[in-house]
Amino acid sequence: MTNHNSKLVVEGVSAGKTSIVHLTYDPGHLARSFGTPLLVIDEHKLRETVARFRRSFSSGSWRCQVTYAAKALLLKAIAKLMYDEGLALDVCSEGELQTVQQAGVPLDRCTLHGCAKTYVELDSAVRLSVGYVVVDNEGEIRSLDRITQTAGKRARVLVRINVGLTAPTKTQVQTSALESKFGFPTSDGQALAAVKAVAHSTALDFAGIHCHIGSQIHDLASYSREIERLADFARYVMLECGIPCGVINVGGGLGISDSSDEDSAPTPEAWARTIFESLERVAGDLSPRSEIIVEPGRAIIARAGTTLYTIAVRKTLGNGAQALIVDGGMSDNPRPALYEAKYPVALVSDAIVPPDGRYAIFGRHCETDLLFPDVPLANPQPGDVLAVHNTGAYTYSMASNYNRFPRLAVVLVDGDNARLIARREPLDHLLDLDV
Ligand code: LLP
Repeated sequence: MTNHNSKLVVEGVSAGKTSIVHLTYDPGHLARSFGTPLLVIDEHKLRETVARFRRSFSSGSWRCQVTYAAKALLLKAIAKLMYDEGLALDVCSEGELQTVQQAGVPLDRCTLHGCAKTYVELDSAVRLSVGYVVVDNEGEIRSLDRITQTAGKRARVLVRINVGLTAPTKTQVQTSALESKFGFPTSDGQALAAVKAVAHSTALDFAGIHCHIGSQIHDLASYSREIERLADFARYVMLECGIPCGVINVGGGLGISDSSDEDSAPTPEAWARTIFESLERVAGDLSPRSEIIVEPGRAIIARAGTTLYTIAVRKTLGNGAQALIVDGGMSDNPRPALYEAKYPVALVSDAIVPPDGRYAIFGRHCETDLLFPDVPLANPQPGDVLAVHNTGAYTYSMASNYNRFPRLAVVLVDGDNARLIARREPLDHLLDLDV
């Protein structure tokens, strides 16, 4: 594939200003070759971001592991790439576990999460000897104990604790507030009881504690507070049970910017600095040999992704607004509908033309499906390709078949090389499910 070095004129939706994004690949050519809607993952950018996270977390005096939260985007090729780049992976279902296994990732590099794991999931985790199982409720501890005893195996367990911290982010993605369903509350003794239950099991090894305060977090001070609470609890565990927390898993959640201006979100370096400085402050409460794990998903993969759509319709609405309808929508990206998520949107064009007006961009599903309410564009026409940036995280992984649309294809692109890593879903696959 030839690289046409196409440029894009980009309107930062939230910033309201025009800027030019130089892509290392030609989106127009990709759209013609693979069809639209299409999710494009920029391999170079992804590897660079992973390397940045690894560098940031290897500079402190603490032993650190960066684990990719695979729920953000998981395909076999992505799992393999993350592993090759030195990351561990967290999975939260049998489907994610099998994907990672089939990608050839050694499962001792994996952590199994989930707030209501099935027996099958726990059994797979034990049988396949995953690195850590993070327990989230009493029933899981009992099941895991039974499964390991029966299989004559052991499991390394992290206890997920709820530290009662309301992170400043959308309520849907706050995960350690008092009203959150996740983990064992530290406030009422449940967390300590869980640690004791794991420690008393003859087949389970208590490895440490886990907490994830939420997602799309820009406020780094929240991580300082989280670490204080993790350290308080680790000291309490030591006092009450005499057991060190060998692993302190801080979770993920680092936010990204909703415009093309990367600087408006905290960097991985700043996140790492906050975590290390907070750890230093509470070091007296932690075992000096504790390993620190962070679990970012979005901040690793989001910015590497761009969704390409073809404009299907341009029309004037009853209120005079100019509207565009694209050939995808909430089935390939439900985030605008769910969280009013914003993205930088651009018209793919070889020429740099100033916008002639503002457009409301809709998906083609049978409801409002308003994706981007007010985007300045340069005379967009049906057939033109629209690029939506920063869509690597929680789009494909949350895609649906609403209106019986097959799921879109995904390509991994590095300059002139484009590799299909997920085929467009054949309609027959959908129809085959019907009995
Ligand atoms: N660790 C655990 C245990 C998690 O539950 C999550 C995300 C992460 C790590 C990674 O969080 P991240 O770094 O990606 O923010 N559907 C929502 C996001 C839900 C995230 C759920 N858990 C969205 O589209 O924004």
